[in-house]
Amino acid sequence: MIIAPSLLAANPGKLAAEAERAARAGADWLHVDIMDGHFVPNLTFGPATVAAVRRVTRLPLDVHLMCSRPATMLAPFREAGAGYLTVHVELEDRVPALLWQIKALGAGVGLAINPPTPISAVRPWLKQIDLLLVMTVNPGFGGQSFIEETVPKIQQAAAWRRQLGLAYRLEVDGGVNFDTVRECARAGADTIVSGTTLFGQHSIRRAIRKLRQIAERHAPPAVCLPAPARLPTPVAL
Ligand code: DX5
Ligand code: ZN
Repeated sequence: MIIAPSLLAANPGKLAAEAERAARAGADWLHVDIMDGHFVPNLTFGPATVAAVRRVTRLPLDVHLMCSRPATMLAPFREAGAGYLTVHVELEDRVPALLWQIKALGAGVGLAINPPTPISAVRPWLKQIDLLLVMTVNPGFGGQSFIEETVPKIQQAAAWRRQLGLAYRLEVDGGVNFDTVRECARAGADTIVSGTTLFGQHSIRRAIRKLRQIAERHAPPAVCLPAPARLPTPVAL
């Protein structure tokens, strides 16, 4: 089980220190939300911030681009230290070129899907990705409530992974707390993004451990879990 604290919920005044705190507390990856003020009504970080985080930890940086025009941003984020680059399937006919571009940059290839979009939209791309991110809230803001209707989409994505013998990681993002993580894990999620629940606790170490324990307890038997996805090539630092 991968636990990826979302820096969106960290103290923005000391982001690098917060990233280091999460890394020392046992996080597996760090999730970094990039919002462009257009795809979603909010603005967050640019490549300079990702580079600042990269300088304090070697953990994989899971960069989630909620952006209408990510094509020109992929290389700068990769150079800044992104390990995984995730773009949204809602970009429709631009998706194939974006996935190729991410692969050519040597990063892990991620594809995200919003709650209202039917899961069938990702089906054509499953063989080309390392990570499928099922949004469990509408993107744009941290601290929202988990949308239960997304659970069947996680189940379908896990079923396709089994049936097709693929190894993409299945990530959930949004409203994941100590309760909702159970149904995510039961449905087949193996990569858990959580912002408010982790950074909102007094001890992020204890919160990560607790989230991991609950997720692992509710995960399907190990035999059903995929082989670890291809690791992205590390960037030169
Ligand atoms: C939402 C972001 C999430 C967000 C999750 O648009 O993609 O990564 O940080 O935050 P919580 O866990 O607070 O819902
Ligand atoms: Zn995210």
